[in-house]
Amino acid sequence: MRADRTQLEQVLVNLAVNARDAMAPDGGTLTITTGLVRAADVRTLGRDIMPPADYVSIAVSDTGCGIPPENLGKIFDPFFTTKEVGKGTGLGLSTVYGIIKQTGGFIFADSVIGQGTTFTVYLPVHSGEDALVKAPVVETSAPCRSRRRICGGGAAAAGRGRGQCARHPAPRARAQGL
Ligand SMILES: Nc1ncnc2c1ncn2[C@@H]1O[C@H](COP(=O)(O)OP(=O)(O)O)[C@@H](O)[C@H]1O
Ligand SMILES: [Mg+2]
Repeated sequence: MRADRTQLEQVLVNLAVNARDAMAPDGGTLTITTGLVRAADVRTLGRDIMPPADYVSIAVSDTGCGIPPENLGKIFDPFFTTKEVGKGTGLGLSTVYGIIKQTGGFIFADSVIGQGTTFTVYLPVHSGEDALVKAPVVETSAPCRSRRRICGGGAAAAGRGRGQCARHPAPRARAQGL
Protein backbone atom coordinates (compact mmCIF):
# COMPACT_ATOMS: atom_id res chain seq x y z
CA MET A 1 0.00 0.00 0.00
CA ARG A 2 1.07 3.59 -0.31
CA ALA A 3 0.66 5.57 2.91
CA ASP A 4 2.50 8.13 4.97
CA ARG A 5 4.33 6.19 7.72
CA THR A 6 3.90 8.94 10.33
CA GLN A 7 0.20 9.28 9.58
CA LEU A 8 -0.31 5.53 9.76
CA GLU A 9 1.39 5.52 13.16
CA GLN A 10 -0.96 8.29 14.24
CA VAL A 11 -3.94 6.17 13.16
CA LEU A 12 -2.76 3.17 15.18
CA VAL A 13 -1.86 5.22 18.25
CA ASN A 14 -5.22 7.01 18.27
CA LEU A 15 -7.12 3.75 17.95
CA ALA A 16 -4.99 2.08 20.63
CA VAL A 17 -5.39 4.97 23.06
CA ASN A 18 -9.16 4.86 22.61
CA ALA A 19 -9.08 1.10 23.21
CA ARG A 20 -7.09 1.64 26.40
CA ASP A 21 -9.59 4.24 27.61
CA ALA A 22 -12.50 1.92 26.80
CA MET A 23 -10.95 -0.85 28.92
CA ALA A 24 -10.18 1.36 31.94
CA PRO A 25 -9.92 0.86 34.82
CA ASP A 26 -9.76 -2.95 34.84
CA GLY A 27 -7.84 -3.46 31.61
CA GLY A 28 -8.55 -6.03 28.95
CA THR A 29 -7.10 -7.24 25.68
CA LEU A 30 -6.04 -5.12 22.72
CA THR A 31 -5.57 -7.10 19.52
CA ILE A 32 -4.15 -5.72 16.29
CA THR A 33 -4.59 -7.92 13.24
CA THR A 34 -3.43 -7.33 9.68
CA GLY A 35 -4.58 -9.09 6.57
CA LEU A 36 -5.09 -9.00 2.84
CA VAL A 37 -8.51 -8.90 1.19
CA ARG A 38 -8.65 -9.90 -2.45
CA ALA A 39 -10.98 -8.04 -4.80
CA ALA A 40 -13.03 -11.20 -5.34
CA ASP A 41 -13.75 -11.39 -1.59
CA VAL A 42 -14.68 -7.74 -0.97
CA ARG A 43 -18.40 -8.39 -1.43
CA THR A 44 -18.39 -11.06 1.27
CA LEU A 45 -17.23 -8.46 3.82
CA GLY A 46 -20.64 -6.80 3.71
CA ARG A 47 -18.99 -3.37 3.48
CA ASP A 48 -21.24 -2.20 0.70
CA ILE A 49 -19.52 1.11 0.00
CA MET A 50 -16.16 -0.52 -0.78
CA PRO A 51 -15.51 -0.96 -4.50
CA PRO A 52 -13.93 -4.31 -5.42
CA ALA A 53 -10.15 -4.01 -5.25
CA ASP A 54 -7.33 -5.60 -3.28
CA TYR A 55 -7.02 -4.12 0.22
CA VAL A 56 -4.69 -4.39 3.17
CA SER A 57 -6.77 -4.63 6.35
CA ILE A 58 -5.78 -3.50 9.84
CA ALA A 59 -8.18 -4.32 12.67
CA VAL A 60 -7.81 -2.86 16.16
CA SER A 61 -10.01 -4.70 18.68
CA ASP A 62 -10.59 -4.18 22.36
CA THR A 63 -12.58 -5.89 25.07
CA GLY A 64 -13.81 -2.59 26.48
CA CYS A 65 -17.16 -1.00 27.23
CA GLY A 66 -18.35 -0.83 23.63
CA ILE A 67 -20.05 2.08 21.84
CA PRO A 68 -23.79 2.70 22.22
CA PRO A 69 -25.59 2.39 18.86
CA GLU A 70 -26.83 5.99 19.13
CA ASN A 71 -23.20 7.21 19.26
CA LEU A 72 -21.85 5.11 16.42
CA GLY A 73 -22.94 7.61 13.78
CA LYS A 74 -21.15 10.47 15.57
CA ILE A 75 -17.79 9.05 16.62
CA PHE A 76 -15.95 10.28 13.52
CA ASP A 77 -17.32 13.83 13.93
CA PRO A 78 -14.78 16.44 15.04
CA PHE A 79 -15.15 17.29 18.76
CA PHE A 80 -17.51 14.42 19.53
CA THR A 81 -16.39 12.97 22.85
CA THR A 82 -17.97 11.13 25.75
CA LYS A 83 -14.96 11.71 27.97
CA GLU A 84 -14.68 14.14 30.84
CA VAL A 85 -13.52 17.68 30.16
CA GLY A 86 -9.73 17.59 29.95
CA LYS A 87 -9.63 13.87 29.11
CA GLY A 88 -10.96 13.86 25.57
CA THR A 89 -10.73 16.31 22.68
CA GLY A 90 -13.01 14.45 20.30
CA LEU A 91 -10.38 14.88 17.60
CA GLY A 92 -8.78 11.43 17.59
CA LEU A 93 -11.19 9.61 15.33
CA SER A 94 -11.84 12.57 13.05
CA THR A 95 -8.09 12.74 12.48
CA VAL A 96 -7.99 8.99 11.82
CA TYR A 97 -10.88 9.32 9.41
CA GLY A 98 -9.19 12.18 7.53
CA ILE A 99 -5.96 10.22 7.15
CA ILE A 100 -7.73 7.09 5.92
CA LYS A 101 -9.76 9.03 3.38
CA GLN A 102 -6.68 10.90 2.20
CA THR A 103 -5.01 7.52 1.68
CA GLY A 104 -7.96 6.25 -0.39
CA GLY A 105 -9.14 3.81 2.26
CA PHE A 106 -12.15 2.98 4.40
CA ILE A 107 -12.74 2.64 8.13
CA PHE A 108 -15.54 0.86 9.98
CA ALA A 109 -16.43 0.46 13.63
CA ASP A 110 -18.23 -2.64 14.91
CA SER A 111 -19.21 -2.68 18.54
CA VAL A 112 -21.15 -4.65 21.12
CA ILE A 113 -21.96 -2.96 24.40
CA GLY A 114 -20.17 -4.69 27.27
CA GLN A 115 -18.09 -6.81 24.88
CA GLY A 116 -15.86 -4.46 22.95
CA THR A 117 -15.16 -2.65 19.73
CA THR A 118 -13.28 -3.34 16.52
CA PHE A 119 -12.12 -0.61 14.18
CA THR A 120 -11.18 -2.01 10.78
CA VAL A 121 -9.18 0.00 8.28
CA TYR A 122 -8.91 -1.04 4.62
CA LEU A 123 -6.21 0.54 2.48
CA PRO A 124 -5.99 -0.16 -1.23
CA VAL A 125 -3.10 -2.33 -2.34
CA HIS A 126 -0.75 -0.28 -4.45
CA SER A 127 0.37 -2.31 -7.43
CA GLY A 128 2.86 0.07 -8.98
CA GLU A 129 6.55 -0.64 -9.44
CA ASP A 130 7.33 1.17 -6.18
CA ALA A 131 5.26 -1.32 -4.25
CA LEU A 132 7.06 -4.27 -5.76
CA VAL A 133 10.45 -2.84 -4.90
CA LYS A 134 9.54 -1.79 -1.35
CA ALA A 135 7.29 -4.65 -0.29
CA PRO A 136 8.86 -6.24 2.78
CA VAL A 137 9.25 -9.98 2.19
CA VAL A 138 8.67 -10.77 5.86
CA GLU A 139 4.98 -9.85 5.63
CA THR A 140 4.20 -12.64 3.21
CA SER A 141 6.56 -15.27 4.55
CA ALA A 142 5.88 -14.96 8.27
CA PRO A 143 2.14 -14.76 8.91
CA CYS A 144 2.66 -15.16 12.66
CA ARG A 145 4.19 -11.71 12.69
CA SER A 146 1.03 -10.13 11.35
CA ARG A 147 -0.84 -10.68 14.59
CA ARG A 148 0.19 -9.07 17.84
CA ARG A 149 -1.55 -9.43 21.11
CA ILE A 150 -0.97 -7.03 23.94
CA CYS A 151 -2.55 -8.09 27.21
CA GLY A 152 -3.27 -6.05 30.27
CA GLY A 153 -5.67 -6.54 33.13
CA GLY A 154 -5.95 -10.29 32.67
CA ALA A 155 -8.64 -12.60 31.47
CA ALA A 156 -11.01 -11.63 34.27
CA ALA A 157 -11.93 -8.38 32.59
CA ALA A 158 -12.49 -9.99 29.22
CA GLY A 159 -14.36 -12.90 30.77
CA ARG A 160 -16.68 -10.63 32.66
CA GLY A 161 -17.53 -8.78 29.47
CA ARG A 162 -18.47 -11.99 27.71
CA GLY A 163 -20.51 -13.29 30.66
CA GLN A 164 -22.36 -10.05 30.95
CA CYS A 165 -23.29 -10.21 27.33
CA ALA A 166 -24.43 -13.82 27.50
CA ARG A 167 -26.94 -12.92 30.20
CA HIS A 168 -28.03 -9.65 28.58
CA PRO A 169 -27.33 -9.90 24.86
CA ALA A 170 -26.49 -6.44 23.66
CA PRO A 171 -27.40 -5.20 20.21
CA ARG A 172 -24.58 -5.50 17.71
CA ALA A 173 -23.97 -2.17 16.11
CA ARG A 174 -21.82 -1.00 13.26
CA ALA A 175 -20.62 2.39 12.09
CA GLN A 176 -19.61 2.77 8.52
CA GLY A 177 -16.90 5.06 7.21
CA LEU A 178 -18.04 7.16 4.30
N1 LIG B 1 -12.54 1.72 21.30
C1 LIG B 1 -13.56 2.47 21.74
N2 LIG B 1 -14.43 1.95 22.63
C2 LIG B 1 -15.48 2.70 23.09
N3 LIG B 1 -15.74 3.96 22.67
C3 LIG B 1 -14.89 4.52 21.79
C4 LIG B 1 -13.77 3.81 21.27
N4 LIG B 1 -13.13 4.61 20.39
C5 LIG B 1 -13.82 5.75 20.37
N5 LIG B 1 -14.87 5.72 21.21
C6 LIG B 1 -15.86 6.78 21.41
O1 LIG B 1 -15.69 7.75 20.41
C7 LIG B 1 -15.48 9.04 21.00
C8 LIG B 1 -14.60 9.87 20.09
O2 LIG B 1 -13.27 9.37 20.07
P1 LIG B 1 -12.09 10.35 19.71
O3 LIG B 1 -12.43 11.08 18.45
O4 LIG B 1 -10.83 9.57 19.72
O5 LIG B 1 -12.12 11.43 20.85
P2 LIG B 1 -11.69 11.32 22.40
O6 LIG B 1 -10.90 10.05 22.58
O7 LIG B 1 -10.85 12.53 22.63
O8 LIG B 1 -12.98 11.32 23.16
C9 LIG B 1 -14.92 8.74 22.38
O9 LIG B 1 -15.13 9.80 23.29
C10 LIG B 1 -15.69 7.48 22.76
O10 LIG B 1 -16.99 7.81 23.21
MG1 LIG C 1 -9.36 9.47 21.27
